[in-house]
Parts: sequence; C-alpha cells; structure tokens
Amino acid sequence: MKFIVLCAIVIIAISVKFFRKSSNNVCKTFEDYYSDRDTNKNCYHNPDHDLPTPEIVKRQGYPIEHHHVTTKDGYSLTMFRIPHGKTINSNKIKKPVFLQHGLGSNSCCWINRKEKSLGFILADEGYDVWMGNFRGSKYSKNHSHLSQDDFDFWDFSVHEHGIYDLPAQLAYVKSITQQKILYIGYSLGTMAMYIYGVSFPEQAKNQIQMFVNLAPSTYLNNTKSILRHLIPYWPLAEPFVRRITNGYMFARIYPRELLKLICYPYPIQIKLCQIPDMIFAGFSYDHIDPETIPISFLQNVDWVSIKGFTHLCQFVLKGRFQSYDYGAETNKEIYGSPDPVFYNLTKMKVPTYFIRAHNDLITTKENVEFLYNSLPKETKPYNIYVVDDENFNHYDFLTSKDVIPLLYNHIVEFLEKH
Ligand SMILES: *[C@@H]1O[C@H](CO)[C@@H](O)[C@H](O)[C@H]1NC(C)=O
Ligand SMILES: *[C@@H]1O[C@H](CO)[C@@H](O)[C@H](O)[C@H]1NC(C)=O
Ligand SMILES: *[C@@H]1O[C@H](CO)[C@@H](O)[C@H](O)[C@H]1NC(C)=O
Repeated sequence: MKFIVLCAIVIIAISVKFFRKSSNNVCKTFEDYYSDRDTNKNCYHNPDHDLPTPEIVKRQGYPIEHHHVTTKDGYSLTMFRIPHGKTINSNKIKKPVFLQHGLGSNSCCWINRKEKSLGFILADEGYDVWMGNFRGSKYSKNHSHLSQDDFDFWDFSVHEHGIYDLPAQLAYVKSITQQKILYIGYSLGTMAMYIYGVSFPEQAKNQIQMFVNLAPSTYLNNTKSILRHLIPYWPLAEPFVRRITNGYMFARIYPRELLKLICYPYPIQIKLCQIPDMIFAGFSYDHIDPETIPISFLQNVDWVSIKGFTHLCQFVLKGRFQSYDYGAETNKEIYGSPDPVFYNLTKMKVPTYFIRAHNDLITTKENVEFLYNSLPKETKPYNIYVVDDENFNHYDFLTSKDVIPLLYNHIVEFLEKH
C-alpha cells in the first residue's frame, strides 16, 4: 500500500515537473501554447496570477495607495487607489471613480489584464481610480474583535455590503477627494449600491454623481442559467454546508493550486476549465482571451459567505428585492415583522446608467428591465445600453478579448460627459 502511494507521488511529481518545463506561462494566441513556449516570441512569463492587487498595479507602472476604513460593525476594509495614470498631467486630473467588484472576487478584477484592465484605462484617462473590497474578500478580512475563523465573522449577506461596506468606503473617498464620485459597480457591486441607495437615499445622492451598472442585478428570478434548476435544492443543503464550512466557501469548487495543475498550459485544458463558468454565465468561447485568461481565471476568485450566497438564491427563488429571509419566527425577532425588509426602489435618488449583455444568463433582459422599470423616472436619464455582441456573457464585462472596443471605450465616452 505504502509502495503504491509512494509510486503515485513520484509519478505526480514527475508529471508536474514535465508540465512546468516552460517558464513562459502566457501566449498571444492559442496555437502558440502548443509551441516551445520558452523560445516563441509570442509567449512570455507573467507572474500576475500569484500577485496581490497592489503588486500588479506597481508592476504595470502605475502608482498605488492603500487606504483602510472601518465599518460601523467593525470590519476593516482595504481600498486601493490609483491616483493618476502612468504620466501625471495635472490639468487632466478628473473626478474620482469608484469600482466595486462582484461576487466571489475582489479589486483584482479591475487590474489583472494589463492594458485591457478598466482600472488602468480610467487612470490613463485622468481619473482618480478607487477600488473597493467587500468584507470577507482577500483584502478585507480584519475585524475589531472577530477573527476570520469565527463563524460570526461570516454572518453577513448582501445587506451588510449595502448598508455598511459601501457607506464606509464612499464616505471616505468623498472626504479625501472632496468631490462627488462616479460609481461603477459590477453585478453584486450594483446590487449593494441599490441596497445602499434605498436605505440612505439622501446620503447616497450627495456622494454619487452617476452610478454606472455593469450587469445590473437586483431581480434574479428570470435567470436563464442552469443554476435556476439547482438553486431550489440549496435551502436543503445549506445547513449542512454551513456546518462543515464554518460559514464560508471558495468561489470555485477546486483550490487554486489544483486549478493551476489541471487548467494549464494547453488550450484544451483552458477551454475545459471554462465550461462550469459558461454554463453558469452564458456559453460561448468567442470572447476568451488567450493572453489573459491564464491570469484572470486564477485571479478573479475569492471567498464567499454562505449567508450571502443564500441571500442571492433567495432573490432567484422569490423574485423580490428584500433583505435576508430567516423564516417568519426569526424575522420577527430581527426585523420586527414576519417578512424581511423590502428594498423599496422608488426611494432611489442616485442617477443610473444601465449596461447589460445579450448572452448574460444571470442578469437577463427581463431581470434588467424589471429593475429599470422599478426605478423612479429622475434616476434614469438614459436608456439601457446593450453591448453590441450576441455572445457577450456575464463574465465578459471583465474578461472578453474585445472588451475595449465593445465596452470600455463606451464607458470612457460616457464618463467624459460627466
Ligand atoms: C490585518 O491584521 C493583521 C494582523 O493584525 C495585520 O498584519 C494586517 O496588516 C491587517 N491587514 C489590514 C489590511 O489591515
Ligand atoms: C420575477 O419577479 C417579479 C417581481 O416580483 C415579478 O413581477 C415577475 O413576474 C417574476 N418573474 C418570474 C418569471 O417569476
Ligand atoms: C415605497 O416608497 C414610496 C415612496 O417613498 C411609497 O410611496 C411606497 O408606499 C413604498 N412602497 C412600499 C411597498 O413600501
């Protein structure tokens, strides 16, 4: 038995060595991956997959600042700031832009694709770029009296992102910059903004000049993703998962190190590893970027609280935009009524701009339009913008190979007006 285990270890070690024989880990086209990557001029070594946000920003030649805020309920959140582009042009310093990431990710999603990263594009356009990190993500794991190993640390849903994390971060940015903020949220980053915007309408309106929605998410009951067939079973599994996980889980089922081993270096592996994401978000290989996918796939992933995930499932199941539903008994104790708190979208005062995609199975046309129609007239001066590509899916907002012509140029043009 021992002998077999030993043999297995030796074989795995040898094969790992074999796979690692190239030090160049990214190539410009999928064909290049099959060549000798160390001599092919289209391939190079990019260490970003293992680096934290500030290291990547520095490596790409941009200035970086770290800022910390403490929320009312004791979480310490880190924000990163790219105060200007590669060259300083003092006439060109524009407004602060605040970027807020989606579920199971962190600020890395705005900077891990070199020149195709929205964070760098905006900095080079002269904006003062701030990037938030929700509680529980890699950069926001400290708390005044809880440790990240405590079950209570992970006892939060989307509600807390909206009523604690955003107010703390945005108040800080406003106090430092003394200017109104252009807020760009992606997916969960939009949902949290609606929770904030209807819970503290005046405060949000005074801080935010314009709220750009990438994949606007509040109503999720018209989701076309296969997940909608699985989510009805989640309430059954949840108590068990919560017990064995201590309240949090990793956004991808497999650990990073295993992903590195099975998903690289060959394109067939890369493409196989995309299948779960695509089933979830919209199927199509059209937008995969051979040069950045090995980095962004390993980067755009972080821890998720079970309670937060359950809250999202409730949005899918109930089709109501409301706070976490504990069940009538506990709701009465916590909210003073058997129902959860209804997020009344007619209270929203922040002006919005909507961007959605055709092949987004999560924030579908129906879901986005239902949200849009629920908002008061004065908060929607523009029509919904739809990315002009049939195959653009939920993740392509961050990872499409053509994200600049299809989306980021449009965002830059839009912000220019403000
Ligand atoms: C979190 O706390 C640890 C230990 O006290 C400290 O080393 C670390 O710098 C803190 N991180 C942040 C982001 O505040
Ligand atoms: C989704 O939820 C909205 C709001 O509650 C409701 O009007 C709509 O009919 C629901 N759609 C489906 C397909 O359940
Ligand atoms: C939502 O807010 C509006 C305006 O503040 C109010 O008139 C309406 O009754 C509220 N709706 C619910 C369901 O609470």
